[in-house]
Amino acid sequence: MIVPAFSEEERKYAVEQAADLLRRGMLVALPTETVYGLAANAFNVEAVRSIYLAKGRPSNNPIIVHVTGSPMARRCVEEWPPEAELLAQSFWPGPLSIVLHRAACIPNVVTGGGETVAIRCPAHPVFQAVVRACGFPLAAPSANRSNHISPTKAEHVQESLGNHVALIVDGRACSVGIESTVVDMSNPKAPRVLRPGMISEESIRRVLGLQGAVATEGDKAKVALEQSGVLKSPGQLPRHYSPQTVSSLFRGSVDELENFLSQKGCKPERCALIRIGKELPPHLSLGMDIGLPNNPAGYAEQIYAALYRCDAQRLDVIVIQAPPETIEWRAVWDRLKRATKR
Ligand code: TXA
Ligand code: MG
Repeated sequence: MIVPAFSEEERKYAVEQAADLLRRGMLVALPTETVYGLAANAFNVEAVRSIYLAKGRPSNNPIIVHVTGSPMARRCVEEWPPEAELLAQSFWPGPLSIVLHRAACIPNVVTGGGETVAIRCPAHPVFQAVVRACGFPLAAPSANRSNHISPTKAEHVQESLGNHVALIVDGRACSVGIESTVVDMSNPKAPRVLRPGMISEESIRRVLGLQGAVATEGDKAKVALEQSGVLKSPGQLPRHYSPQTVSSLFRGSVDELENFLSQKGCKPERCALIRIGKELPPHLSLGMDIGLPNNPAGYAEQIYAALYRCDAQRLDVIVIQAPPETIEWRAVWDRLKRATKR
């Protein structure tokens, strides 16, 4: 059931309902500023186990723990280094997940059997209010079936997981639109970005006063299976965040689209195009045509919703016009590469 949390009154009711279900070990889908999350009490082993079942998620893929701020974060980790506090002060609440050694109170099921836990304090007021009402941290992956597109609207969650979740709280479309940056701080002197996001590696480096670049796992982490069998950051597997429809990146201007499609043997009316900026396609009657903003923040905000819309058309191909290959587009590029990988 989708419950709106738009007005103050609605929000109060939705937060109470959500907190009540979570206390009873149920799953609730909640809005965050990045994507919708499928939340459970992080201390309740059975509840967290049902997240894996609902998503069809491999049990060795750890789940991010969401907190109200650094005091609650400290309770979830063995040690809270000054570097983590610096990052929290600079970027929380916001789209940054910090990986540290876990405290004994964090169950194995949350960490995928590993010794570290990822902690994040989300900025969305509804999510914040629910964690505050619960008083315990919430384990929450993105609220989609494993390997599908992350949801940025309540309807996306309904479509993907509607039968598996007691309540979906609608907090409007997510404003960041792609998942948080995940930074491994388990060795605080040598941070590593495991998943790029809208908080850039450069800004993390600046806050930590580091000279050299923070190492990015990037595509090197394709099969970053640690010897222990625990995936270092399984979201980094090459194919992830994928629509069902075959999706291709297209490096060219929309004028060249007709050629591109005929080379692929695809009829324009069976193609959905996600293009950048205002340039309109030539006189082709496409199955679908969506234009996204020509800036990384605006693009990130809308890309998953665009993929959901295109996918729903059940056409033959989704063609995604490639964004500029500059550093500000890194996180967007990461998601597009994974979405188009077969
Ligand atoms: O923005 C987000 O991070 C959203 C919202 C709901 O907070 N959550 C999200 O969760 O994207 P999920 O489960 O879809 O992706 C979490 C990523 C996965 O790639 C997972 O492997 C990685 O974070 N991760 C979680 N715990 C980790 C850990 N202890 N060590 C390394 N990677 C970890
Ligand atoms: Mg996910």
